[in-house]
Amino acid sequence: MVLDRVRERCGRDFPIEYRISGSELIEGGLEEEEMAVFAHMIESRVDSFHVSVGSFHDPATMVRMFPGPFFPNGVNIPYAAAIKKAVNVPVTGIGGLSDPDEMEKLLEEEQVDMVAMGRQMIADPFLPKKALKGKSSEIAHCIRCMRCNSGALIPYVPYPNGVVYCSVNPVMGRLREIARENSFKTAEKKILIAGGGPAGMQAALGALERGHKVILCEASDSLGKTLSYSDHIEFKQDIRKFRDSLISRIENSQVEVRMNTAVTPELIRNAEPDLVIGAIGGEPFIPPIEGIADNNVLYAASMHQSVAVPGNKTVIIGGGLMGCEEAIALAQEGKNVTVVEMTDSIAGEADSGLKQMIDEKIAYYNIPVLTGCSCMKITEEGAIVKNKDGEERMLAADSVLIAAGVRPKDSETNRLRDTCYDLGIDFIAVGDCKKTGRIREATTGGYFAGRNA
Ligand SMILES: Cc1cc2nc3c(=O)[nH]c(=O)nc-3n(C[C@H](O)[C@H](O)[C@H](O)COP(=O)(O)OP(=O)(O)OC[C@H]3O[C@@H](n4cnc5c(N)ncnc54)[C@H](O)[C@@H]3O)c2cc1C
Ligand SMILES: Cc1cc2nc3c(=O)[nH]c(=O)nc-3n(C[C@H](O)[C@H](O)[C@H](O)COP(=O)(O)O)c2cc1C
Ligand code: SF4
Repeated sequence: MVLDRVRERCGRDFPIEYRISGSELIEGGLEEEEMAVFAHMIESRVDSFHVSVGSFHDPATMVRMFPGPFFPNGVNIPYAAAIKKAVNVPVTGIGGLSDPDEMEKLLEEEQVDMVAMGRQMIADPFLPKKALKGKSSEIAHCIRCMRCNSGALIPYVPYPNGVVYCSVNPVMGRLREIARENSFKTAEKKILIAGGGPAGMQAALGALERGHKVILCEASDSLGKTLSYSDHIEFKQDIRKFRDSLISRIENSQVEVRMNTAVTPELIRNAEPDLVIGAIGGEPFIPPIEGIADNNVLYAASMHQSVAVPGNKTVIIGGGLMGCEEAIALAQEGKNVTVVEMTDSIAGEADSGLKQMIDEKIAYYNIPVLTGCSCMKITEEGAIVKNKDGEERMLAADSVLIAAGVRPKDSETNRLRDTCYDLGIDFIAVGDCKKTGRIREATTGGYFAGRNA
């Protein structure tokens, strides 16, 4: 009846696409076979189907409706393929799609007739154009962090801000301001950027858009060095792809890149820039624990430098997002891992969808989590921890991984800032060296520092 009324109002020459869940994925809910029968029942009344999964009545299905990083790209396509078998109108698949080649394959294999993207089009609305022009490597890759949903999505967000922000697309949610600024001319400046992480690279791209001359210096041998934690963790593959796309955009731009070049006061003096953007990142926070300098201690925040965690048994000190993700990654390698967290909850800083996935994975791998527990001492045998009742126990471990967070590289940043002030050069710090954050803060802060120069 609803479809008949819609058709009546729209007329025959107006396409009606029916958005449907291929399965509600809840106990007692509509399942794959029923959805196929239902689709067949109504197909004469619609022009196409658009197939997602899950139910708005059960937020637990949200991580499948918006497939998170723990799921493969296109995880819901089989549900669309099942509907396609049941009907004779075109069927669209959606869910975690972002790679033009993978999408092309789905079409070639006739699993679906069309593909759609939600978040990836927020991350980079120019995807179709870039793919058509053979520039797929420059597509800003959605990292499936859920931050766009967290602020704006009705009905889960009690007070939606109505503006979608994105971790990898700094202009998202600010297009009106950007359009206005584009009409103002700025004098060309020489901008020196210290650090080739996401903040530094986005700063370079932002500055280039406004016609500035940009020199980007990276102390290590590769851009996006800190993000190389994503090389070894399968569920961080989206971050790996995002890093590679940023590097590709820098390499194909007019930015002068100087690798293996740490920005020093001397370099600033010689380069004589109008502005220095400091994007030198953070360093692991080292809590005052006895024995922390021992050989069996590693830092989660340095995992891009030393990837292998020796031995089978690991105790992770810190149950924030970083600690939990490391615990899951180690459990996926088959290691025996325990998380020790001082407060009463874990991964508190994660957005709702991500938090749900972390909780699910911690439960799935049966990872012991000791909340309300502090590490008192680290020895060769492992970590001595104390609970809220003051009871101490030894957690035997081959390695102790400290995941106590990252702090800005204050002294190095201040050294660069002071040099600039002495020389009358503008200085601005962005990303983790300004305030420890995540990729969103780094890309947004970096981009606007460069753009507004
Ligand atoms: C293990 C781990 C997992 C994480 N997981 C996530 C995640 O899942 N999602 C998320 O959003 N965020 C995550 N983060 C946080 C995110 O990676 C950082 O917030 C982001 O990398 C900060 O970007 P940045 O450009 O400010 O600093 P960085 O990425 O650290 O880049 C700084 C760069 O500056 C270079 N450098 C240092 N000194 C100098 C100098 N003097 N001159 C020139 N170059 C210099 C460094 O070599 C480095 O390449 C994670 C962080 C870690 C450590
Ligand atoms: C900010 C945002 C708002 C959305 N709003 C709706 C909506 O109103 N109705 C709907 O059926 N799906 C909505 N979706 C879900 C998408 O249509 C899509 O199914 C989902 O994002 C998974 O696809 P993706 O992995 O390509 O993002 C929304 C998605 C996002 C990111
Ligand atoms: S905020 Fe995160 S999930 Fe949303 S589009 Fe951007 S990168 Fe993707």
